[in-house]
Amino acid sequence: MDSSDEEGEEYLFKIVIIGDSAVGKSNLLSRYARNEFNPHSKATIGVEFQTQSLEIDGKEVKAQIWDTAGQERFRAVTSAYYRGAFGALLVYDISRRTTFESIPRWLDELKTHSDTTVARMLVGNKCDLENIRSVSVEEGKSLAESEGLFFMETSALDSTNVITAFEMVIREIY
Ligand code: GTP
Ligand code: MG
Repeated sequence: MDSSDEEGEEYLFKIVIIGDSAVGKSNLLSRYARNEFNPHSKATIGVEFQTQSLEIDGKEVKAQIWDTAGQERFRAVTSAYYRGAFGALLVYDISRRTTFESIPRWLDELKTHSDTTVARMLVGNKCDLENIRSVSVEEGKSLAESEGLFFMETSALDSTNVITAFEMVIREIY
């Protein structure tokens, strides 16, 4: 067990999470990396990241996942944020339509600033809020199809598809 870093290569991949403020980016990351959810989380200021390891085909793969503010005035320097990213989660909130309508803008920003091919996943978060849904699953799917993105609905609150979403992106990069 403890000889795992002695042999073989190690892989480190940078993944960025983007999307409007309060769609749940920070909670998706904390759910994935620490299995934590914060019902009263504050808006992110600047940039934070967490590293998470997983094993693929017997090799240790590390994902360094970056999270920044959705609010323009709190955001990290844009070009530095995207530099070297191999994967991206584009997140909207299924209960707030405006956050879905912003996705094309986030896609443009990603295209402008990324320097490699990026594995991209469209994420409709807060699928636990079915009773106040304002974006249908079909709309999410169809946007993802037309832009060539993976698609998944998630809930950081009840953990639905959180691990699956991150791991699909990581496996696609690998
Ligand atoms: P910024 O840092 O401002 O860009 O926001 P963010 O996208 O990081 O959102 P954050 O994770 O801080 O979550 C915003 C609010 O939504 C918080 O009150 C969370 O508790 C709540 N939230 C996040 N994910 C979910 C979810 O899956 N379901 C529900 N019901 N609430 C969620
Ligand atoms: Mg945040």
